[in-house]
Amino acid sequence: LSPHRPNLSARFDSFGSPEEVLQAVEQPRPDPGPGQILLRMLRAPVNPADLNLIQGTYGVRPPLPSTAGIEGIGEVEALGPGVTGWNPGQRAVPLKAGPTWQRWLAADADRCFPVPDRADPAQAAMLSVNPSTAWRMLHDFTPLPPGAWIVQNAANSGVGRCVIAIARALGWHTANLVRRPELIPELQQLGADLVVADDENAAGAITKAVRDPVRLALNAVGGNSALTLAKVIAPGSTLVTYGGMSRQPISISTGQLIFKDLRFAGFWMTRWYETATRAQVGSLWNPLLDLIADGKLHTPVARVFPLSQVREAAAAAAQSGRAGKIQLDLTA
Ligand SMILES: NC(=O)c1ccc[n+]([C@@H]2O[C@H](COP(=O)([O-])OP(=O)(O)OC[C@H]3O[C@@H](n4cnc5c(N)ncnc54)[C@H](OP(=O)(O)O)[C@@H]3O)[C@@H](O)[C@H]2O)c1
Repeated sequence: LSPHRPNLSARFDSFGSPEEVLQAVEQPRPDPGPGQILLRMLRAPVNPADLNLIQGTYGVRPPLPSTAGIEGIGEVEALGPGVTGWNPGQRAVPLKAGPTWQRWLAADADRCFPVPDRADPAQAAMLSVNPSTAWRMLHDFTPLPPGAWIVQNAANSGVGRCVIAIARALGWHTANLVRRPELIPELQQLGADLVVADDENAAGAITKAVRDPVRLALNAVGGNSALTLAKVIAPGSTLVTYGGMSRQPISISTGQLIFKDLRFAGFWMTRWYETATRAQVGSLWNPLLDLIADGKLHTPVARVFPLSQVREAAAAAAQSGRAGKIQLDLTA
């Protein structure tokens, strides 16, 4: 790949449907300024948050026109003046260092984190959003003793699969709700202790199968599915909402609030990163990179599109019933 190739970038100049507003546009290749490294970008996933950001419905709105892409992985191509501690060819994950859906990213070196060669780059490209969200939610809301049970919906989502893998690696049990029952065997094989269809029988099925108290619920769906989670958790437990895939609000039963003393909280990874120190990000990402390198944390990738087909990639990511994440190959 010639280092002089122009910077193909996924641009949008108005908020709207990603399939309509995204354009693959050639821009000049940036030069790394003082304190920066030039990354040759390799891979980036298309996450729900990316689509929401382009639609203008996310928690923050970028200035327009803008380049898309919240996370990804690159390889160091060149060092700017004054940069030490990085070598050309080394892989890096940038954090809040600029849009990732482009061929080249000149990123502040202190906003980039090294990725060991033994970690699959396609997996490390997804490190900062889903695995990190799963890890934080399992650690930040309630102390989980060894062998504790947690319950979650959207268990087949990127985050849901990370929750299953991380909980298993750390010695916790998961009860999981899926909207497509055909996925039950696959998630069991991944290490889920219990998987049930997300329907009106789900709460009963979980209560019958799990004798121990369920200490934490993770909700990415809302509506009736969230109500099921609230029914299943033990008195005094917390239900954490981090997504709203059904677009239905969460209705809370008054009785559950009063007699079960339930706690309802929200979680947003972006907010955690806003105040995290570099050391805190390192101590979040290093164990996750180890799990990725050991093959214990793996998110299936359904299809990889070249950056020139970014609209098709966005359309594929918006489709339900995918067999995994959609990714962009930024080198193609
Ligand atoms: N708060 C945060 O910091 C944070 C961080 C990461 C992700 N998120 C949110 O977490 C959610 C999942 O993200 P992801 O990247 O893991 O997603 P993903 O891998 O793209 O998967 C989406 C999941 O949502 C399910 N789903 C789609 N439409 C649904 C509906 N109408 N009702 C019920 N389930 C539905 C899908 O079910 P199938 O498996 O059956 O297709 C799939 O499991 C999104 O809402 C995302 O925005 C939040």
